[in-house]
Order: sequence, then C-alpha cells, then structure tokens
Amino acid sequence: MRLLVTGAAGFIGSHFVLRHVGQYPEDAVVVLDKLTYAADKHFLDPVLDRITFVEGDIADQPLVAQLFEKHKLDTIVNFAAESHVDNSIRDAAPFLRTNILGVQSLIEVCRAHAGVRLLHISTDEVYGDLSDDDPPRTAEHVLRPSSPYAASKAAAEMLVMAAMRTYGIPACVTRCTNNYGPHQAEEKFIPTVIRHALRDEPIPVYAEGKNKRDWLYVTDHTDAVEVILHTDWAFRDPQIGSGHIFNISAGHEQQNITVAKAILALLQKPEKLISFVKDRPGHDWRYALDSANTRKLGWAPKVSWEEGVRRTVDWYRKKFVS
Ligand SMILES: NC(=O)c1ccc[n+]([C@@H]2O[C@H](COP(=O)([O-])OP(=O)(O)OC[C@H]3O[C@@H](n4cnc5c(N)ncnc54)[C@H](O)[C@@H]3O)[C@@H](O)[C@H]2O)c1
Repeated sequence: MRLLVTGAAGFIGSHFVLRHVGQYPEDAVVVLDKLTYAADKHFLDPVLDRITFVEGDIADQPLVAQLFEKHKLDTIVNFAAESHVDNSIRDAAPFLRTNILGVQSLIEVCRAHAGVRLLHISTDEVYGDLSDDDPPRTAEHVLRPSSPYAASKAAAEMLVMAAMRTYGIPACVTRCTNNYGPHQAEEKFIPTVIRHALRDEPIPVYAEGKNKRDWLYVTDHTDAVEVILHTDWAFRDPQIGSGHIFNISAGHEQQNITVAKAILALLQKPEKLISFVKDRPGHDWRYALDSANTRKLGWAPKVSWEEGVRRTVDWYRKKFVS
C-alpha cells in the first residue's frame, strides 16, 4: 500500500504508524499532521527515517492533492481531528473546519484519483447518549450526537457515505469507543487523573463519576484498523449502508469513578484526591457498542484493562516525573 495517514502525530494515529511501519516495511507511508497542541512529532521518532512527514492541514486541498501526485498514494487513513469534547463546547469552529471541511478535502482528492480508498476514523460518540437499559449500538441505530465534537464527526461520516454513493469512492468508517494508553493528550480523562494524582492535586471528576465508558487499549484499536484496512470488501460493498461501518469495542464498561480509583490504587494515592466538579453540559451518560461486525473479521482485543492501565500509568509516570 501507499498510505496517507493523517493526524499521526497525535494519540491513536502515532500508534497506528509505529505498528504499520514495523509490520509492513514495504509500504510507503506519508504522514500529514497540522501539529496542533495535541500532537507530538517525537512519537514518530522510531520510524521518522522510514516515513515522509509533512506538517500541514487536511483542509488544505491543494497540499493534499500535491502529496497524492508526488507520492502516488492509494489509501487514506484519516485520524486527523479536533478531538476534545470540552474544547468543542467552548468553541466549535476548529471542529467544523478540521472534522468536516477537512474530510471533504480528502474526499475531493479521492474523487480526482479513481480507486483511492478512504478509511475514516469516527467515534462511538456519534450514537449519542444511552441509558443503562439500552442495548449496545449497532451500525443500524440512528445517530444522535450530543456535543459539537460528536456532531462534527457524524457530519463527516455523512459526507463519506455520500461520496461512496455519488462518486463511487471506496470508503469505510470505523466507530470506536474511548481509547486509553500512552501518547494521549494531557487534557483527556485518564492522563488528567494520573497527572493530578502524581502531584497530589485534587482530581476533577464530572458530577458523581457514574457516567460509563467502554475503554479500549489504543493498540487494540489500531489492530482493528489494520484488519479492516486489509479487508478489501470493506471498501467495496455496493450497498451503501452498514456494511461500510465498523464498530470497535472491548465490551468492558466502567464508571469514571472506577477508572479513577484503579489509577489511584496503582499510584498508591488516596481516593480523597477525587474532587467532584460541575457536570459537562450535555454529558452523555453511557456509550456501548456491539462490535460483532468487526469481530467477524477476526479481530478481538488483546490487552486486558488491568494490563493496559498499568502500561498507561507507567508511561505517564515517566513523562510527568521526568
Ligand atoms: N481518543 C479516543 O478515545 C477516540 C475514540 C474514538 C475515535 N477517536 C477518533 O480517532 C481519531 C484520533 O483521535 P486521537 O485521540 O488520536 O486525537 P488527538 O487529538 O490525540 O490527535 C489528533 C491529531 O490530528 C492532528 N490534526 C488536527 N487537526 C488537523 C488538521 N486540520 N490537519 C491535519 N492534522 C490535524 C493533530 O495535530 C493531532 O496530531 C479522531 O478522529 C477521533 O475522533 C478517538
């Protein structure tokens, strides 16, 4: 393959590229990343001499087109996004630009190069809020995004599906649950808990910490993306519909408070550091996914929560203490 991987100086994209270059050394990999506050190019240091790194914006269509001409690319894996819900509540504009207009820019380049495949990384947040009684979401459920972030991701999916139908672009969409692991931006929940705990500072937890998330270790997500990337029919189903949408989850729901307590136990810090703060507006109670369609491809998560959280805490301990 000759891949354009966008957003690969961020959390999940960096793990994807490190893994892909190791496993498929014969592939060409071009990384396009705007290097926002969430990025760290050093994550890619181990493979920088084997990839082409370009600093730039996915919404800069002439730049993306130029990369296609120069490197004869055949596949896009789009991780690039503004990804933090709280930021989208404060100011949605960067989310609309990158998450929607940026995706349309990638679609335009696919239009101009027949056969180029687009694997678009989306999120379980597009389904919106679930109650405790709701069944895990399948690709057939309606989308009811709650935050500007989730709405921008849902809009991008619609553009990808419209492009499949209107222009025949080979594409698919993945919806994954909350990821955790090394390289995640410090603003996110698990790095925040670790950082505050290490400094013996109050750990902000929304409301009473009872909201549920289904955490997936980041390399289990990138494993799933690889499996889908290597499943040709995933991009070519002539019926535009759920066949092109892959839910990815471990099926291991936990309340936020349980996650915070597990981290405090690993760091041998007291639970009294947990400090409940005013809830996020529009805060979804629960997300849960039915990932049967991805598991049918032979994917299953490999890293247990206990192992994943230990690796994560070890990585951030080194980062925050050094
Ligand atoms: N983190 C999660 O739990 C999670 C769960 C499900 C889906 N996702 C999705 O996975 C993808 C990656 O998420 P993440 O957590 O790694 O995000 P992140 O915020 O850590 O990284 C995003 C990367 O995209 C880059 N970027 C931002 N705007 C760009 C632009 N206009 N052009 C080029 N690069 C740009 C940033 O510099 C950064 O390197 C996103 O699409 C996100 O919606 C994330």
